[in-house]
Amino acid sequence: MWFADMLYAMESLVPYIGNIDRVQEDCDVLTLTLAKYEKVNLKEFRSVMFASLRSLLPTTWSSEHENAWAWFWGIVEKKVEENKQLPVHNHQCLRSFLARMDEETLADFKLKVFDTFFATTEESQLYLRAANKRLMYIMGRILTIMSDIYTKTHQAVIALSALGLLHAGHGVPEDLVRPFVQAFMGGIKENCPDESLHDGLWWTLDLIGRIFIRTLAEGSTPVIIAINRNTAKAMKTAVANYPRGEREVILLKVQVGTESMSPLIWAVEKLRSKLGPGTHELRKGALESAKEILNDLLTMRADRARYYYGMEMLFTRHSDIISLLCTKAPSLLPTLFDGLIWRSKNVKNGMRRANYYIASLLRDENGQLTDSLLDLIKQGDCEIICHPTVVFQADLLWTRLCCLPWALTKCWFCLTLVLYIMAEQQAIVSSDPLSTDRFTVIACRALLYVCSLGQLFAKHAFQTYRAVRQKEMMRFCCMPVPKYVLRTRQELVEVLLLLLLICLLCIEPALHCLAVSSELLIDCCEYGEWQCNLMHTYNRLAAFPMVLYFILASELVHLNVHLSVFSVICSSLMWEFLLYVAVLIFFTAAFASAVACLPQSMGSDSVQMRDFFSWPLAFESLLSMAFNTYGSDNYEQIAQEDEPMLKWFVMGFAACWHVYLMNLMVAQLCQRYNEIFHDARGNARLTRGINIYETSMPLISKKRWTGFVESLRLEEACELDEGDNGPRGAVPTTEDPYDYLQYPKVTLDRVQRYGGLANPELPWPSLEEAIDDSAVGKLTRMTQAKFEEMDRLMLGSS
Ligand code: HEM
Repeated sequence: MWFADMLYAMESLVPYIGNIDRVQEDCDVLTLTLAKYEKVNLKEFRSVMFASLRSLLPTTWSSEHENAWAWFWGIVEKKVEENKQLPVHNHQCLRSFLARMDEETLADFKLKVFDTFFATTEESQLYLRAANKRLMYIMGRILTIMSDIYTKTHQAVIALSALGLLHAGHGVPEDLVRPFVQAFMGGIKENCPDESLHDGLWWTLDLIGRIFIRTLAEGSTPVIIAINRNTAKAMKTAVANYPRGEREVILLKVQVGTESMSPLIWAVEKLRSKLGPGTHELRKGALESAKEILNDLLTMRADRARYYYGMEMLFTRHSDIISLLCTKAPSLLPTLFDGLIWRSKNVKNGMRRANYYIASLLRDENGQLTDSLLDLIKQGDCEIICHPTVVFQADLLWTRLCCLPWALTKCWFCLTLVLYIMAEQQAIVSSDPLSTDRFTVIACRALLYVCSLGQLFAKHAFQTYRAVRQKEMMRFCCMPVPKYVLRTRQELVEVLLLLLLICLLCIEPALHCLAVSSELLIDCCEYGEWQCNLMHTYNRLAAFPMVLYFILASELVHLNVHLSVFSVICSSLMWEFLLYVAVLIFFTAAFASAVACLPQSMGSDSVQMRDFFSWPLAFESLLSMAFNTYGSDNYEQIAQEDEPMLKWFVMGFAACWHVYLMNLMVAQLCQRYNEIFHDARGNARLTRGINIYETSMPLISKKRWTGFVESLRLEEACELDEGDNGPRGAVPTTEDPYDYLQYPKVTLDRVQRYGGLANPELPWPSLEEAIDDSAVGKLTRMTQAKFEEMDRLMLGSS
């Protein structure tokens, strides 16, 4: 309905009626909008408008109002009526122009426009550095907007607002738009000899140019210009004069018409869009700008009346800021997290108060746990995951919420481990095969097969079925294996355990004994050799699941970060250890083969005959020498042997292993330890994060989570030092007085306090000029005044 379009146009016509260029632009747009309707009666609209206005202000409506609105309407109506015929005619011109060009001519025309533009306006080359293909795409989009302005006027204006903002972000000056439009028109004239179309095309281009210039001007705020200047200083100067109450808004939002953009995100995006040769300077600069915006937002400022801190606004406007920084500018994450810490200058009762402003990191607007920590885990940066803010958030979740549910999930392994020990260890129950204790063993084994084997079987059968259906299989030693099995150590150990338990069930003596005796027995050795062998095989095989159960139960180390770090170090160094074991086996095999060749002329009781006669004997003896389990008497016997070569080979082996390889191994492990220690801390923290998100949080009920968040009182102002209520959104804690030295980047009591008038309309005075009215500030000023007075007195007396 045209009435709705009229009302929409009023919203921009009324406030800008004093700006003749803007009125012309809005009237042109309105004309285009109304051209779509067959019957538009402006007189009717006038009557309705006046009637509504009068009834809105029945008592205060005066002739002055009447005159002002009549004047306003007169201008609008005249301009709309004047151009009423233009849209249809001009649209026809554009259609005819486009219809005349085939694909090749159109491509030539597009590039020609840029050739002329670059030739006439050299400065443009500084901004437009795109390849021909991209330039053709840009021209294509401009031509589409030219058509859209007739068919989908509102969308075209919105698209132009977005483009204006984009160009403001690129720092394109307004002065370049006219030459561009001229170049465009020049191209049209060259390609279109029919002069009757020129006026119509010029009208369209001119209108687009005007809208574009306006949106460009509105989008070019000091902050956007500062981002293009690329220095932190420029950013500081740009925001310095804004009212303190609006400072957060201008750093996070630039509005043009219905379109808006965030300077912070633009600066971050610019980091990526400027990748490429010769653009290093720009990247660094945009990084500086983005860093400065974050710094400014997260600086805690206070005047006499209130605190100003942009944490809440930052996360409200960009709830995905962490994931964005993780993917686009990870180097800015420390700046962001630093800005969420406040630590007191004072130490009370041997502890220092600290506030972590993590409200928005913890819960989103629906009160649910945010994915910020998960994003950091996915990023996998060991450095950032150990940042004090991240550590505090993770530890808070862990200690208050997740630790117990997680430990309970692991208790199952501990329980099955106890069952297994009772079922399999020989010394636990009586060794008499007929004692009644055997029923305990049988009961434990039955429980084990049903609960442990049953649970593992169900879990892995389902996962394997899913992997097969989703074709997530891989080849391992020529065998198809589901990919998930090799993804984590736990899955692999579980599958091995499952296979071993199945084997144990197949050779379970209690079942096989049923064939020879109706009594329930676990040892039926006396009934035959086969039963006896089976039992020994079973007992030997049972030793392996024991180790695997312990490995699974060892997951409990992740309850404590220090233990977790140690376990990470152990598993990281495992590969080095295996390497040395392999080298040892190689050396032992080499020396054993050599020793086994020596002449065996001595008596049967000689040490050479006993320990080095064949290759396996020699191998075993040398291996026990390597592990220091070869008796010292034996060495004496070797020294007295008639075969001198044996002694020299043993000494050679000892030199290779004990002197050379062992020392090399110690040196290498030390070096690797230093390298991995830092990463190990990060890895332990990552494991804790995964345990929180993957294992524990799904087990936490909604009620428990809500209770936890409420207990943190994030909506209330959080006290800084005693009696000083700071900004809200923090979780307070106390730390060891020297803890801050581990991360001294965040200064103590980092609130910037300003004296004087406390009006949100006023800008912040520059820090040098600001009068610090805190106790320390007053003391400093007083001392300085006293010194100056003493100087004056001394100068006067001399
Ligand atoms: C009426 C005037 C103009 C219009 C309608 C216009 C339109 C466009 C459009 C549609 C794009 C592509 C946006 C995208 O999809 O990413 C673009 C990109 C761009 N324009 Fe303009 N433009 C105009 C004038 C200018 C001028 C005068 C300059 C300055 C030399 C300029 C510089 C740029 C730059 C630097 C880009 C980004 C190129 C890139 O990302 O590779 N534009 N413009």
